[in-house]
Amino acid sequence: MAKSLIRISDLTDAEILRLCRTAIESPPAARHVNPALPAVGLLFTEPSTRTRISFERAAQRLGRSTILVDAKTTSLEKGETMADTLLNLRALGVGTFVIRTPETGSLEELRAIEDIGLVNAGDGIGEHPTQALLDFATILAARGGDVNKLQGLKLGILGDLKRSRVARSWSQLAPRFGIELVLISPGDWKPDWMTSAHRWTDDKRSALGELDILMALRIQKERMVANQAQGTDDFVRRFHVSAADLHPRQKLMHPGPVNWGIELAEDLKSDPRSLILAQVEMGLGVRSAVLEFLTERN
Ligand code: NCD
Repeated sequence: MAKSLIRISDLTDAEILRLCRTAIESPPAARHVNPALPAVGLLFTEPSTRTRISFERAAQRLGRSTILVDAKTTSLEKGETMADTLLNLRALGVGTFVIRTPETGSLEELRAIEDIGLVNAGDGIGEHPTQALLDFATILAARGGDVNKLQGLKLGILGDLKRSRVARSWSQLAPRFGIELVLISPGDWKPDWMTSAHRWTDDKRSALGELDILMALRIQKERMVANQAQGTDDFVRRFHVSAADLHPRQKLMHPGPVNWGIELAEDLKSDPRSLILAQVEMGLGVRSAVLEFLTERN
């Protein structure tokens, strides 16, 4: 049976904690790349810097060679389905696939392929589970690794919630560990996945007053349709966050890439309250742990 991480709900609470603790306390030690082991395929049909390189470095740490499949130069561009591409690559010795695609929900049908591992590195406006996991591990580490200290923690996610797969993965993750999620955006960017477990507001100032951690998001212009980009100037005027907006003990996070001057002011670039680069660093440990978990059999 294939092992897949497509949604946060693919992992139990114990697995989430095990992966994050491994990343924090004992990330897999670097090994020599062994070409005899099944390779890790990186299929990215959308732009990516940190996510792709983070997975690539993580796979190499585990001694796995990596195959980068760029949609523009492969048969995906000639109309081959993702499933066919995976079957062919499996026949060539690729055991685990890390996939980023603009097609929301399109990875579900790949679960049925036997003897492979599958990781969702972002599917349209669907989910981005490893980003939420690395954010979670960063928060856990900042709380001394004590999961009880997450109870009642107030995490605000501010920005383009409607089109954010990071926010959607967080909407699944936060309630499972007692983290209170406060969603902050203009009314038009309110996400359609909200349930009674989530709180939403368009009042940035009062939300910021009560948060332990603020996570800002990039405006996902490439996922906007028709006239949706028109709200951007209004967003910057009302929701832009600068150093003076944060209280002294508040932490700042962002999944990257940051558009400085849009969602965050330039004066936050080297602010001591920022965990943004700690998130990137944690990404390597979390993705190594995730790939180790998935490659146990592939
Ligand atoms: C996010 C993504 O691609 O969903 N970035 C990331 O993976 N680090 C958020 C974004 O693109 O803004």
